Amino acid sequence: MTKSYSIAVIPGDGTGPEVVAEGVKVLKTAADTFGFKLNFTNYPLGGDHYLKTGEILSDKTIADLKKADAIFLGAIGNPKVKPGILEKGILLKLRFDLDQYINLRPVKLYEGVETPLKDKGPDEIDFVVVRENSEGLYTGAGGCLKKGTPDEVAVQESINTRKGVERCIRYAFEYCRKRNKGKKLTLCGKTNVLTHAFDLWERAFYAVAEEYPDIKTDYAHVDATCMWMVKNPEWFDVIVTDNMFGDIITDLGAMIQGGMGIAAGGNINPEGVSMFEPIGGSAPKYTGMQVINPLAAISATQLLLETLGEADAAARVEASVKKVLKDDIKDVSAGRMGFTTSGVGDLVAGYVKNGIPEVGA
Ligand code: IPM
Ligand code: MN
Repeated sequence: MTKSYSIAVIPGDGTGPEVVAEGVKVLKTAADTFGFKLNFTNYPLGGDHYLKTGEILSDKTIADLKKADAIFLGAIGNPKVKPGILEKGILLKLRFDLDQYINLRPVKLYEGVETPLKDKGPDEIDFVVVRENSEGLYTGAGGCLKKGTPDEVAVQESINTRKGVERCIRYAFEYCRKRNKGKKLTLCGKTNVLTHAFDLWERAFYAVAEEYPDIKTDYAHVDATCMWMVKNPEWFDVIVTDNMFGDIITDLGAMIQGGMGIAAGGNINPEGVSMFEPIGGSAPKYTGMQVINPLAAISATQLLLETLGEADAAARVEASVKKVLKDDIKDVSAGRMGFTTSGVGDLVAGYVKNGIPEVGA
């Protein structure tokens, strides 16, 4: 019987809908080519929906999303809405409510893409960040006192539970084993200052490591991680870290892999519903101009297909993205691709459909 999956699509704000359209185009082509079925349902969440209806994200929508096999998200963030409302009310709420406790962010430089790092190329820049996605500084724990007065106090606490930390670390070890590349997992923390939080992380890390004798372990403080990501990115295979550090180092990662135009990520609940997104924002100034690069969104569909278990389709999408980057588009940045947004989507879809003989994909 033909396999069939339901995909919830949240195009979102700004250029989100434009890049999502290309991701959906590629997903449809992959489904037709590899013989499975995808049923798409659109959810009009985001700034415009909020301004029109006053609704950010209803319980009913969350319940519906929980029934999907995967979620494909464009971008959330609208200049007409105060910063934080949509990000917290939609993106972070979904990550939390769906318990997507892993944020998986590959940092991979493809051939034909320029990196700002001198003398580094695709051989040196190829690692994956496993960011804890459900705890840390992101839970909203804390509060304020005497707000707006000279005596005001603000406390924002980092929550680290043994269970939450351990499941993330275990995922990272498993991922590192499956990836089968450098077989090295680096814990990125700040054990010299955050002596409560990262003491727990460190003990959990080395305890879980005993179950993975085939994986080398390493540790780097977050500041040093930033330094090595620039100086010696080839040292990294898989990095595991907390929510806040993961947020920061993956923006750095996105830049060394060529920018937000190609960086993709997955918010993963290994036991539930996962959500895939380009990691760049909604780029409001480019909205509707067909200049934004859809390859990040398309790479997010590759992660989505991998998670569904459609490995061949996922590999073809990646090979197609690589081909487009190497031979077709001039530059990955918005407006400099030499093609429109949908033109780039057409190129990828064409390779997905027809294959890429020279790489045997
Ligand atoms: C990301 C984003 C979000 C985060 C924002 C938009 C809340 O920066 O996905 O990395 O901080 O996680
Ligand atoms: Mn971020």
